[in-house]
Amino acid sequence: ADRPLIDPFGRTITYLRVSVTDRCDFRCVYCMAEDMHFLPKRDLLTLEELDRLCSVFVGRGVRKLRITGGEPLVRRDIMHLFRSLSRHLASGALDELTVTTNGSQLARYATELADCGVRRVNVSLDTLDAAKFRATTRWGDLGKVMAGIDAAQAAGLAVKINAVALKGVNEDEIPRLIDWSHGRGMDLTLIEVMPLGEIEPARVDQFLPLSLVKARLMERYTLDEIDYRTGGPARYVRVRETGGRLGFITPMTHNFCESCNRVRVTCTGTLYMCLGQEDAADLRAPLRASESDAPLEAAIERAIARKPKGHDFVIDRRHARPAVGRHMSVTGG
Ligand code: GTP
Ligand code: 5AD
Ligand code: SF4
Repeated sequence: ADRPLIDPFGRTITYLRVSVTDRCDFRCVYCMAEDMHFLPKRDLLTLEELDRLCSVFVGRGVRKLRITGGEPLVRRDIMHLFRSLSRHLASGALDELTVTTNGSQLARYATELADCGVRRVNVSLDTLDAAKFRATTRWGDLGKVMAGIDAAQAAGLAVKINAVALKGVNEDEIPRLIDWSHGRGMDLTLIEVMPLGEIEPARVDQFLPLSLVKARLMERYTLDEIDYRTGGPARYVRVRETGGRLGFITPMTHNFCESCNRVRVTCTGTLYMCLGQEDAADLRAPLRASESDAPLEAAIERAIARKPKGHDFVIDRRHARPAVGRHMSVTGG
């Protein structure tokens, strides 16, 4: 791009995560409260506005767009946005258009996503046990997610499974998740739980450092370092026994902020410069103020100029206060 977005620490912004709705058909315990108050529809950016916002970022050097939520595939007519954004793949301006989903609507949308140039989808799945799944999502149906994964693979989409590692919940299931994902030709990434929203004591109790998980896995598997990179924060190894890729996302035990290349925009047009900070910039007003993109670009530049060095997450009993009061579902991770 002509005028790339570069922050004060020299990091170039090439990855935009766009939350298209705050709603979700599940209520994962670490992501939302049980009684969430969702935004009234009139506060949301329209799909046309989201398209314009994304396109301005693409014009300024973003090469990877990830659609998130809430659950992005519950937003009405969401395929219009994918269809429209796919023009940036066709023009070569964008390397990747992709989505992070809970999988519940994938059976319905997998073929259309593939038609829109999506090549890879990330599906959040913490457990293969239907009862545990219902407990962590508060009412999710594992069968529906499995049908979604089947449909995605049948449509030719690569699937990456995201599992948040939770002590006492799926801790003993990690080998099974590895064998299952790799057996189906899918990458698996394990994620350390981050303290966002009101943290219940369970979040602190369930925190499981991936350094520990990795050490345990090494008693069972041979993990070969590889330099596979997606532009996301995971560090991957290849599991020799399965031949599959296993990623570790370690915001808590091994901060990766130094190489951060991303920012997030919410469904109301709020730009968060960091997942682990409160600071945000409103892009909706400049977006709506003018037909010209100039005010919007200026607002984006001012925001990137204050991107912080990194997050302030801590998990321990003495710091039970979250660094960030908003729920994960506001930005979709
Ligand atoms: P790939 O393109 O497959 O690499 O995906 P990704 O890891 O970029 O995206 P995904 O939606 O699968 O996110 C996985 C996890 O990484 C989520 O829990 C995110 O919250 C977390 N994550 C992504 N970027 C950041 C970041 O900048 N900071 C922190 N702390 N966590 C992040
Ligand atoms: N900590 C870590 N990961 C989380 N996710 C949602 N909430 C949290 C949290 N508090 C994960 C989801 C999804 C991804 C986008 O973020 O499971 O895979
Ligand atoms: Fe929904 Fe995903 Fe949050 Fe779970 S993690 S409540 S599936 S947005």
